[in-house]
Amino acid sequence: MTPSPSSIGTRPATVTLRLRDDRAVRVRPLMRSDREQLIEGFRDLSEDSRYQRFLSPTARLSGRQVTYLTEMDYIDHFAWGVESTDGAGIAIARYVRTGRDVAEAAFTINDAFHGCGLGWRLLQALAMVAAEHGIRRFEMTMLAGNKSMERLARKAGAVFEQPDGGTTRAEAALPPEIWSDLPGAAELLCLAAAAARAG
Ligand SMILES: CC(C)(COP(=O)(O)OP(=O)(O)OC[C@H]1O[C@@H](n2cnc3c(N)ncnc32)[C@H](O)[C@@H]1OP(=O)(O)O)[C@@H](O)C(=O)NCCC(=O)NCCS
Repeated sequence: MTPSPSSIGTRPATVTLRLRDDRAVRVRPLMRSDREQLIEGFRDLSEDSRYQRFLSPTARLSGRQVTYLTEMDYIDHFAWGVESTDGAGIAIARYVRTGRDVAEAAFTINDAFHGCGLGWRLLQALAMVAAEHGIRRFEMTMLAGNKSMERLARKAGAVFEQPDGGTTRAEAALPPEIWSDLPGAAELLCLAAAAARAG
């Protein structure tokens, strides 16, 4: 993937990443103004992806959920949003601090973009920002049998707890090696820092 930071007119600044299949996607911190894009992106997900992400059948998001998912302080709660080149919301990677140096991380990628390395790039970018804010570990909760998420967590060196009531928990330490080959890392950090300053 090759990065290229861009900001055109009033469009928010993004970093462009190229996926394994050569498609380009644009990454930036998710914003309050992304409510509609988030709702549409959720609608575009398969039933299975919604289920895997929210750990139960979820047909729609309530207004309160959308507010929670789009209004962040970018320090204890941060999310990267990803859009395709035609502006559709295709992925979100989020952490929410749950302790002094630990956060829960969650990933949602449009089905048409699974298996192209986007999950890994987002995990790298999310870990990098989290570490800037003193977070040393990610906890990740997934439905037992979510092989893609298990593989993603395993790639980050996660250790797994035994499945409990249908869910599996993974915990990964966040050493800098995780994002050492992330294209556009410096540009992504700038975008994250600007979002935190703007609050
Ligand atoms: C889980 C999820 C985030 C994975 O994202 P992804 O972009 O498909 O994952 P990647 O392509 O980055 O793959 C990461 C690693 O997992 C493995 N992997 C992922 N999908 C795979 C598949 N279908 N078959 C085999 N291996 C796969 C690969 O080993 C890959 O490592 P590699 O890059 O060295 O090949 C994505 O499938 C998703 O959004 N699912 C729906 C929501 C969800 O399940 N969220 C998890 C709960 S928070």
